[in-house]
Amino acid sequence: MLTEKSDIKSILKCYYIKLKVIIRSDILQSNDFNIPPCPQVITDLTKERSRPSPDLRKIAMLIESDIAIAAGILKTANSPLFGASRRISDIGHAIMILGITRVIDIAMALKMSAIGKQHPLTSQIWEHSRAVAEIATVVAKVLKFMDILPNIAHTTGLLHDCGLFPMLQSKPFTSSNSKMITDISTLDMDPEKSMMHSHWGYYMLKSWGLPEVVCQAVKYHHDFENIPDADTELKNLAALIILSEQISWIISNPQFEQKLKSNETHISVLDYLLLTFEDFNEIKNDIWVTQC
Ligand SMILES: [Fe+2]
Ligand SMILES: [Fe+2]
Repeated sequence: MLTEKSDIKSILKCYYIKLKVIIRSDILQSNDFNIPPCPQVITDLTKERSRPSPDLRKIAMLIESDIAIAAGILKTANSPLFGASRRISDIGHAIMILGITRVIDIAMALKMSAIGKQHPLTSQIWEHSRAVAEIATVVAKVLKFMDILPNIAHTTGLLHDCGLFPMLQSKPFTSSNSKMITDISTLDMDPEKSMMHSHWGYYMLKSWGLPEVVCQAVKYHHDFENIPDADTELKNLAALIILSEQISWIISNPQFEQKLKSNETHISVLDYLLLTFEDFNEIKNDIWVTQC
């Protein structure tokens, strides 16, 4: 017999979650876009990366075969973040500076972002994803106890919002009326749209052959509370991406910091990692110094 208020609350919460899942899958099925297939160049690059000793020359040739990827890689290698002392114009040199994982992640993200290239939000999402990827790489190194490889952190950070690209083709984002969204941060204010892009990202990354933990972390990056406690690897990776994303928002808009103090997800992630607000601030300040 139910006597406790908390019992009723937890049953209601359970029904609410189930209802959300049903509504969400209806929305996903009702959209008229398909998961974009994985381009051959990405299949070839990931196949080469998975070899015990990847062939750098072959990777460079594959990248050079795609002008958009080659240009994106060179642009990244020449960005101030990597502090090259002279202009890099050679793909082989760019691979040496960025590393194979980063190069293939960027190639993949460029192909994904090309899906929504006509939309004004695409460049914002791309810049945001790049920032989250670099921050996540640093956080993985700082919070070693999470046991997340910096490479996995980078891949997940760079691709965490990839589900937005196919969504940019759908009506709510591209209509010419007042529903046009022009600021990526407004997407996070709308829980239904956030849910949808994380689910689209999950399906897309799965069909492009990304590791399961990366796909799952993308799926749950706006839904931390619903990750089973027993799945430590997934929970740690999702927590790392959420914190990295929050740091990226503060760097681009310092006023966001105040809002975070009452943000439920922020509080749950810190609780889960046994971190205080001060710990978070310290990590954020260290990263802020290196990113600026
Ligand atoms: Fe994001
Ligand atoms: Fe997101």
